[in-house]
Amino acid sequence: MKPIIAPSILAADFANLQTEIELLNQSAADWIHCDIMDGRFVPNISFGLPVLQAVHKHARKPLDVHLMIADPQLYIEQFQKAGANSITVHYEACPHLHRVIEQIKNVDCKAGVALNPHTPVALLEDIINDVDLVLIMSVNPGFGGQKFIPHTYTKVAALRELIQSKNAHALIEVDGGVNEETAPLLLEQGANVLVAGSFVFQASDPLQTIANLQNIAS
Ligand code: DX5
Ligand code: ZN
Repeated sequence: MKPIIAPSILAADFANLQTEIELLNQSAADWIHCDIMDGRFVPNISFGLPVLQAVHKHARKPLDVHLMIADPQLYIEQFQKAGANSITVHYEACPHLHRVIEQIKNVDCKAGVALNPHTPVALLEDIINDVDLVLIMSVNPGFGGQKFIPHTYTKVAALRELIQSKNAHALIEVDGGVNEETAPLLLEQGANVLVAGSFVFQASDPLQTIANLQNIAS
């Protein structure tokens, strides 16, 4: 099965966002990954609801919204209305994770949970059957263009095992430092969705780069 490719627009040219979205529309990308950062949960601020709405106006691919924000439960409906197709919240930001996952499903979005690099996969044992996707952070969240953390391979393999043992159906998404070297190894361990920011947008040929990622055999 081909992986789902989700370019992250965090690495796009924000002054020419419409052009960047149109490029992704033409590409083989499956989803458009949108990184929302609040300066509280992560030490950086990216963009919020009005920008997401503007992206939605032009995008012809599902918007995969990654909320790196504190108290995400307060904003689920607003992100759905702004155009999100999937909404991923951080395990570390949700003391009542099960409730937030239900909230996301109630607005008909795919529900995801993200794990920071230090958060073990085993903590998902009692929620894995309720989520549509698990996003494994392969860098510390907050910035694009960081170095991939190699321990991620072990985490992806552990998550694949957990999903199988529970007969669950969650997709495994990996986010941070994905490129032509890390992608094949991630797919080998069982990843289904690859997020790539700088690798796509800093490439001389982003369309070809997206197609190449999608055609990597696992
Ligand atoms: C990081 C974000 C990522 C980021 C990935 O906090 O969640 O989605 O855009 O960027 P690259 O692919 O450049 O590591
Ligand atoms: Zn992300």
